[in-house]
Amino acid sequence: MNRKNHWETTYLSKEVDRLGWYEPHLETSLSWIRDLNLSAEAPVIDVGGGASTLVDDLLDAGHRAITVLDISDNALSAARTRLGEKAGKVIWL
Ligand SMILES: C[S@@+](CC[C@H](N)C(=O)[O-])C[C@H]1O[C@@H](n2cnc3c(N)ncnc32)[C@H](O)[C@@H]1O
Repeated sequence: MNRKNHWETTYLSKEVDRLGWYEPHLETSLSWIRDLNLSAEAPVIDVGGGASTLVDDLLDAGHRAITVLDISDNALSAARTRLGEKAGKVIWL
């Protein structure tokens, strides 16, 4: 199985909040980003962001130039579905 297939299958295997690395909020990452005192317009990219809620929390914190990059379309799809209309404010790669 290639790398992409591995991750696509992983994200289909169970609900996002049942995956081994799931955390409801990525508090450590959020605190590091907060400490940078970025402007709302500063570009922020979550590389390997998967279906995590970091993007939700960054949007709630006012960030307006967020990109989430992931090899898995299934992961990004789960995040977009969760965010609903707010997904349109994010660049998904
Ligand atoms: C352990 S998960 C962590 C996901 C997310 N950061 C979180 O905290 O929930 C690793 C993520 O990296 C992604 N990934 C693995 N290899 C990648 C690659 N070459 N390019 C982009 N994403 C990749 C996977 O699809 C998966 O979403």
